[in-house]
Amino acid sequence: MTPHIVQVETFDLVVFGGTGDLAYRKLYPALFRRHADGQLCPGTRIIAVSRQRITREDFAAAVNAALIRFDPAHTAHGDAIETFIAALDYVVVDAAGETGWVDLQANLSDDPDRVRAFYLATSPELFGKIADRLAAHGMITPASRVIVEKPIGKDGASAGVINDSLGAVFSESQIYRIDHYLGKETVQNLMALRFANALFEPLWNSGHIDHVQITVSESIGVESRAGYYDKSGALRDMVQNHLLQLLCLVAMEPPASLSADAVRDEKRKVLQSLLRIDAKNASERTVRGQYRAGAAFGEAVPGYLDEVGDQNTLTETFVALKLEIENWRWAGVPFYLRTGKRLPERISEIVVAFRRVPHALFATTAGRVHQTKLVIRLQPDEGIKLWLMIKEPGPGGFRLRRVPLDMSFAEAFGVNGPEAYERLLMDVIRGNATLFMRRDEVEAAWAFIDPIRQAWAESTEAPRPYVAGSWGPSASVALIERDGRTWVEDGE
Ligand code: BG6
Repeated sequence: MTPHIVQVETFDLVVFGGTGDLAYRKLYPALFRRHADGQLCPGTRIIAVSRQRITREDFAAAVNAALIRFDPAHTAHGDAIETFIAALDYVVVDAAGETGWVDLQANLSDDPDRVRAFYLATSPELFGKIADRLAAHGMITPASRVIVEKPIGKDGASAGVINDSLGAVFSESQIYRIDHYLGKETVQNLMALRFANALFEPLWNSGHIDHVQITVSESIGVESRAGYYDKSGALRDMVQNHLLQLLCLVAMEPPASLSADAVRDEKRKVLQSLLRIDAKNASERTVRGQYRAGAAFGEAVPGYLDEVGDQNTLTETFVALKLEIENWRWAGVPFYLRTGKRLPERISEIVVAFRRVPHALFATTAGRVHQTKLVIRLQPDEGIKLWLMIKEPGPGGFRLRRVPLDMSFAEAFGVNGPEAYERLLMDVIRGNATLFMRRDEVEAAWAFIDPIRQAWAESTEAPRPYVAGSWGPSASVALIERDGRTWVEDGE
């Protein structure tokens, strides 16, 4: 199936942190793929900004190398690399100081209607400083937008400071807070699944759903990010944003429209309805873990403490939570969330387990009647499976069997969807903020996370160790098994 491409209007994109890891690894390859597909109009410009004193040619060579490394399909794009590189520019700017701002201004188009997007791929401490200087140099036009990456703060208070500093210069509708999970194809399919099919929505409530599981597991360790990660931990790095966003999309009420505010209003209400977890109930509802030496893909790997070079750090690399949403639709339905590094596989999956049938109609010899489960796989092998019970075909008595109605997107459509950053960047240019987080959503997420952190900080317990390559501490298994349920593994 050929994807339907609609060009976006000509724009100037300024990337602060333009020689950083995120830019080379994700942003330029994403922009390149949109360019190669013909989505960017001629005249569009991408201006990288950083303190590094390199020439435009050096920068272009570095982008070229990054495209070869991070976009394995780049050779299929003919001369697109050259035309993409021709659209790039590089300006030396000291984001925290005074040098370079006039040069940057001179590089921008003076058409007041042209979309100007400022991507702040920098540390959050610089967000306010950059915003102030952009304003002081008169670079913010009505058609300007600013894009910021997580972490937006390390708690509610610091997020408030960052949001205030951006809000002093940009209006809320100009601020695009990225959570790249919202750009993933299957995450958006959640909306289609729920609201474009008559089948699920009538059953999507505590009357019919037994529980929901959300797993985002990674096989990698902290790699070169130990400095950042050790100050963050899995709760802030993954749960505050990605997992809670997935939870919101599963649990929110149907929005009145697909407008950015209608969707974000509903997501915020979910966050505000979460049962508070604090010192009183954290031990029953949370498990945190930290990986020790073990194996990944058959190779020995070091433990977290050795990787960060600190034998006393209490930073968690694994979290499991049991959440409740205290509202009419979800009362009594547990949402089990887990995420961690150095788990056996990289899998992101949402499992919606329906209630068991009310009456045992079949003889015990027919076998067990399993719960109907809807498994939404975000990665890898994006797709949806609905596990149903059927009669085993053939003669020889009546035996029940579990089988999946299985739809793999790659097989069904023969295309791989665009990467999250491709879609999100194009949405910024189109001015569509539906897949970005509004200020109150981020702050509501922190309001839920902060008491958990507080409870952990006051606790005498350390994170529970788990062997790299396992599914986390055994306490995470106990968290769900106490309720007579089990984590779904292998999409079943
Ligand atoms: C990032 C986290 O937001 O998401 C990383 O900071 C994590 O720690 C990454 O590895 C996972 O993203 P993805 O798209 O690979 O699942």
